[in-house]
Amino acid sequence: MTPAAGHDADRLFRAEALSKRFGGVQAVQAISFEITRGSVFALIGPNGAGKSTLLNLLNGITTADAGRMWFGAVDLTGLAAYRRARLGLARTFQKIRLFRHLTVLDNVLAGFHVHHHIPPWQYVLHGGAYRRDRARFREEARELLAFVGLADRAGVIAGSLPYGAQRMLEIARALATRPRLLMADEPAAGLNGAEVERLVERLARLRERGLTLLVVEHNMDLVMSLADRVLVMDYGQRLLEGTPAEVQENPTVVAAYLGERVS
Ligand SMILES: Nc1ncnc2c1ncn2[C@@H]1O[C@H](COP(=O)(O)OP(=O)(O)OP(=O)(O)O)[C@@H](O)[C@H]1O
Ligand SMILES: [Mg+2]
Repeated sequence: MTPAAGHDADRLFRAEALSKRFGGVQAVQAISFEITRGSVFALIGPNGAGKSTLLNLLNGITTADAGRMWFGAVDLTGLAAYRRARLGLARTFQKIRLFRHLTVLDNVLAGFHVHHHIPPWQYVLHGGAYRRDRARFREEARELLAFVGLADRAGVIAGSLPYGAQRMLEIARALATRPRLLMADEPAAGLNGAEVERLVERLARLRERGLTLLVVEHNMDLVMSLADRVLVMDYGQRLLEGTPAEVQENPTVVAAYLGERVS
């Protein structure tokens, strides 16, 4: 076995020199990192640093100009987004993307479709497989709603939920795809203090259950309390990677980004 072959059972994700340019903007430049199974990996950096673009490259919405990435032993390079989702990569979006006119429950049910094994005609004729899967999915969806604190909102139209609840619903929907890596783009954005606390507690619970998390966040309390590793980006580049303590102590990071908010 050669080290270059690099199969490491502890490693869930690896990116190597990922780059993406939009016209004159080098949004992501030669970014490399690894995510250990069961850990929380945080991505921080100022507005426009390239964090969301990097998530887009990871889940396949955006095609990288250069670089490679692996999910476990699977080479993701060039793989379509829906195939990555089937492998167990899920994400939530900075700008909430829900089916606003569907119910809360139906939004979560939509997540299960990533893996449904029902032949299309069963949907038309409502055959046995359809009914069995439907009952099972509804039960699981309700469990996920309970997990994010929305058990009593199942029948409500998603677009009418308060903002913080919509963010939690996005997480429930992403969990419905049964991910092995959940990527959340600014899950705490727009949440009040109590909601952030609840979010942190839920994310910690997911990690306890063995889920690996990649979190993009501006909320430093969340990052510092949850993350095992922190990657700091600026102008598309990697500024630093380390533990939360190392990042907090780094003078460049403090000057460029953290300012005086972190005591
Ligand atoms: N589709 C696009 N077309 C052109 N430029 C883009 C596109 N997406 C992102 N950019 C540019 O790439 C850079 C990185 O943007 P990105 O959204 O990844 O930053 P970010 O770190 O997520 O910022 P924020 O903290 O504000 O969410 C920015 O300069 C942005 O304007
Ligand atoms: Mg962003």
